[in-house]
Amino acid sequence: MTIEVSGSVLSGSVCGCDLLPTGAAELDAEHEAILGSLTLMLGQEVVPPDTLRGLRRMMADHFATEAREFPRLRPDRRTAHQEAHDHFLRTVDGLLARGDTGQPVGNADIYPLMLWFVVHSNTADAELAESAGPHGALPDLGTMKGMMAALEHPEFTAS
Ligand SMILES: [Fe+2]
Ligand SMILES: [Fe+2]
Repeated sequence: MTIEVSGSVLSGSVCGCDLLPTGAAELDAEHEAILGSLTLMLGQEVVPPDTLRGLRRMMADHFATEAREFPRLRPDRRTAHQEAHDHFLRTVDGLLARGDTGQPVGNADIYPLMLWFVVHSNTADAELAESAGPHGALPDLGTMKGMMAALEHPEFTAS
């Protein structure tokens, strides 16, 4: 299977889907760093094992950051989120094991990781940030009351 790596993918847009801010500063900073790492890997025809191991470490650390917030989630959502993280790490482990057998890991293998990362961040992680309450959640822009409150939100008041 051949996957074309387009300019839009390299800018962080996957299948027309951009990485969106969750509104939680720590998560968003880590997401940006991960996006940068994945973007570099997408530009490599063959991804060195050490680079892939570095991504795994970065993701495991990031998942630990998110796990600290898991108690805020409903138990079923917490389990689903944890399973999603475990699935990602198992996928990377599979690629590392394949690389150990002499089959190189290429950017076509990284593309699904990027897609997973963007979709997961925009959905499950956004839900997690929202559960953190008014300090972590994006402002509610759907109501007049929410719009007025948003004027005080750091997202809008930061210079
Ligand atoms: Fe995340
Ligand atoms: Fe997550």
